[in-house]
Amino acid sequence: MRDIRKSFGSVVVLKGVDFTVQAGEIHAPMGENGAGKSTLMKIAGGIHLDHDGEIAIDGRPVRFHGTRDATRHGVAIIHQELNLVPGMSVAENIFLGSEKVRGSFFVDRRRQLQAAAEFLEPLNFRTSPATLVGSLRIGEQQLVEIAKALSLHIRILIMDEPTSALSVGEAERLQAIIRRLAGEGVAIVYISHRMEEIFEIARAVTVLRDGALVGTVPVAQTSRADLIRMMAGRDVQEFFHRGEPGAGNGRTRGNGDAEPPVLSTASQTKASPGSRRASSRRPSSTPRPVRKESGRA
Ligand SMILES: Nc1ncnc2c1ncn2[C@@H]1O[C@H](COP(=O)(O)OP(=O)(O)OP(=O)(O)O)[C@@H](O)[C@H]1O
Ligand SMILES: [Mg+2]
Repeated sequence: MRDIRKSFGSVVVLKGVDFTVQAGEIHAPMGENGAGKSTLMKIAGGIHLDHDGEIAIDGRPVRFHGTRDATRHGVAIIHQELNLVPGMSVAENIFLGSEKVRGSFFVDRRRQLQAAAEFLEPLNFRTSPATLVGSLRIGEQQLVEIAKALSLHIRILIMDEPTSALSVGEAERLQAIIRRLAGEGVAIVYISHRMEEIFEIARAVTVLRDGALVGTVPVAQTSRADLIRMMAGRDVQEFFHRGEPGAGNGRTRGNGDAEPPVLSTASQTKASPGSRRASSRRPSSTPRPVRKESGRA
């Protein structure tokens, strides 16, 4: 992606961002709430169509006309709000829009169940593909979305905070799957507010701040402090100064170890459309993260 610019009305949200992901790479866009990560990836996934700048796949320029079109070009996005039909079965969801048919009209349910099982099995999905998606846990629903992407032979898989609503075990399982897919050559874009996850899984990080590109760095050549500095544009001391309100003091992990916040932005940044939206976006009915280490409101 090159020189991507995007506004919502008069609000400029992306100010000329470059982003590249290689085949087989796990690449993490990072930045404070409202920095523009999701917007950039929604452009990559064919959700936001109205933008400036160029997108190329294998060096060839493309212009998406929607998510289906992006999928045809091998790009799939799985976002925070999953995109499945709760009242349909796992198999029906996987093949929604690309149904396996018998004759010219009837959906071949048996073949669909079998084919779904073939995509689900390597993901360690243990539930029957005939199960209704609405009865599955979030972690399982995510695996259904991944199976759906795999059934479409995607080459670039974008995951926007996939582990934010998962248990520790589910998150680890998902990461193993993501590593395996990358090993098979799929390019993975992985957004997470959990810094430790980035260091475990990603090879490169691209930092955005207020819609502008700060830089792309290999994870092996950076530190937590560097990334925080890049994201905040301020010195890390400001964030970790003891006694500072909002510095995340006292936030503990499940095992009781004190864990400094990745970035505590909610009470520190000046009010901006981003922070307002970030603080109001998670309705109370949405599952809360099991282990939440960033300082999101
Ligand atoms: N559909 C929209 N309409 C208007 N403004 C939007 C829309 N989507 C995003 N924005 C604004 O664009 C900016 C970037 O938002 P975006 O969701 O891309 O940030 P983000 O980096 O993904 O943040 P977060 O870490 O909170 O997910 C924010 O100021 C946000 O309020
Ligand atoms: Mg986002």
